[in-house]
Amino acid sequence: MNENRTIALLHGCNLNLLGERDPEQYGEKKLGELEREFVNAARRGGISCITFQTNHEGELIEKIHELRKRVDGMVINPGAWTHYSYALHDALEMVAAPVVEVHLSDVANRKEEWRRHSVISDVCDLTISGKGMEGYMEALAWLTQRFGTGKADPSLRSG
Ligand code: DQA
Repeated sequence: MNENRTIALLHGCNLNLLGERDPEQYGEKKLGELEREFVNAARRGGISCITFQTNHEGELIEKIHELRKRVDGMVINPGAWTHYSYALHDALEMVAAPVVEVHLSDVANRKEEWRRHSVISDVCDLTISGKGMEGYMEALAWLTQRFGTGKADPSLRSG
């Protein structure tokens, strides 16, 4: 059923330093390991993935433009751009497929107030935060379910 489905797994600024960067918030896994686990789990369900990370906002926006009509789902952790990039908001608004916003840490309960607000949530179909790697797996499960039924399982919604 999922053959020929493709999901984009996109990461924004500073996430290339996962594993090294504040492991208490973001865990010990490196970005490469996280991507591998996601891609392998997707492959087991017959889904292919495109992975991409950048520290340049314009590059992320161009990647979204390139993929916006080509993928069946998008999972994005934009890093700090989450909190202030209206350009990213506007790019995501043009994505035809469902988009899942994922954060490793529990952004709604972090000490910095500016982290508690996402400017992209309203153009994403689901937001998952504070679940580490599990959050990515939940995003994959949600998209897979959606491919299968055309509907989302509301029990998978968080926050
Ligand atoms: C993050 C949370 C952001 O506030 C932060 O700037 C990140 C990572 C997360 O995955 O928890 O870079 O998106």
